[in-house]
This record gives sequence, structure tokens and C-alpha cells, in this order.
Amino acid sequence: MANKLLIGALSLGRGSNLQSIIDHIKSGKISAKIGCVISDNKDAFALERAQREGIPAYYIYPGTHKTFLDPECEKEYVECLKRHNVELVCLAGFMRILKKQFLEAYRGRIMNIHPALLPSFPGLHAQKQAWEYGVKVAGATVHFVDEGVDTGPIIIQRAVPVHEDDTPDTLAERILKVEHQIYPIAIQLFAEGRLKIDGRRVIIKGIDSVSEYKLE
Ligand code: GAR
Repeated sequence: MANKLLIGALSLGRGSNLQSIIDHIKSGKISAKIGCVISDNKDAFALERAQREGIPAYYIYPGTHKTFLDPECEKEYVECLKRHNVELVCLAGFMRILKKQFLEAYRGRIMNIHPALLPSFPGLHAQKQAWEYGVKVAGATVHFVDEGVDTGPIIIQRAVPVHEDDTPDTLAERILKVEHQIYPIAIQLFAEGRLKIDGRRVIIKGIDSVSEYKLE
């Protein structure tokens, strides 16, 4: 059997996207293995989800800054991922900007899921930003990570309608369901070697319309 893609997941809290990745791996829809899960929050439910599955799970101190990892802490994150031979890093509700050390170690091999149709509504509380702006179509995006906030090359996006009686919370719930579908697709496409970054664009080999693509 071919070697499976080794994933490292970073999550701040709830970890529902992590759970969706785990479930897709278990059902054979993603041919990958999670090497480790890391959180910057000791109490993250994501760590518990990982432990339940026998996945090595770590809290690693993030340092004193709120928006990024202190350099010596970032080094520990990278070392942990390397120790577990991680090939693809998946940010799944990880709210810190990655800096040079991390990006150099995993350039083109870090993905993030964001609950908006980027480049609209980057940053925190994207679903609420979109609802307050009054958009009629919201959505989710999986993209490769660069030095910006939710600015890297886009892999897959899927639209979500905004209903008249939505609140930011009901909209966020509907977007989350779509997140749980598209993150596994992006990972599987990576595992199959179909993604090529070409400047701002991600070229996807062998698929016409990724936004409508389903995993078998
Ligand atoms: C998800 O909605 C994810 O898109 C968002 O955090 C949530 C994490 O939920 N990420 C961002 O906003 C990143 N800018 P989860 O822990 O249940 O996966």
C-alpha cells in the first residue's frame, strides 16, 4: 500500500473541522493519516477529540502575543510537526498568523479553512461580518497559507445562501456544514498530488469545477 499523507492539525478550540477530517479518514474518503494535533489552548476540545482517536495531541505554549506565535514557540510547533513527519499542516480553527520560520519549513504545504468567500471578510468573526454587511450569498474557502491574514492562494470555495431570517449564528451553522465538506476535498486533492500553486492561482489537475466536486 502506498504511504499515506501525514497531516498535522492545529486548532484553538472546538475542533469540528478536525472531527470532519478524522471521520473522512475513517470512512476511507481521504487517504491520509493524522500524525499529531497541536493546540495553543490547554482546554481545547480538539485535543480531546484527537486523544479519543489515539492521535498524539499536544498543547504547546504560544507565547505572549495574541495574534502570532512567539519565535521560540513557533520553533516548537515546527519541531513537533517534523518529529511526527507531518507533510501537510491543516489549520482548523487556528487563529494565529504564521511567521517566516513556520512558512519556510512548510511553504506550499499549509492549508487553512475560513468561513467566508475570500477575499471578502478575512479575519475574525467572518460570518458575522458577512451578515452585518448584508450579503445574500456567504460561503467558505480553503486556501494555502502565506504571510497575510487569510490571503493565500485559494483551493476551493463553496457558496452558502443567506436566509432572510438568519442570525449570525444560524448562518455560521450553515457555513460550518459546508466547511466540513470542502476541507476534506482539499486535503484529498493534495494527497492525490493534484494541486499546483501558480502565483495566486491553484491549478487543479483533472477536475473541471472543484466547487461542485464530491468525494467518492
Ligand atoms: C471554523 O468556522 C473555521 O472556519 C474558523 O474557525 C472555526 C473553527 O471551528 N476559522 C477562521 O475563522 C480562520 N480565520 P472548529 O474548531 O469547530 O473547526
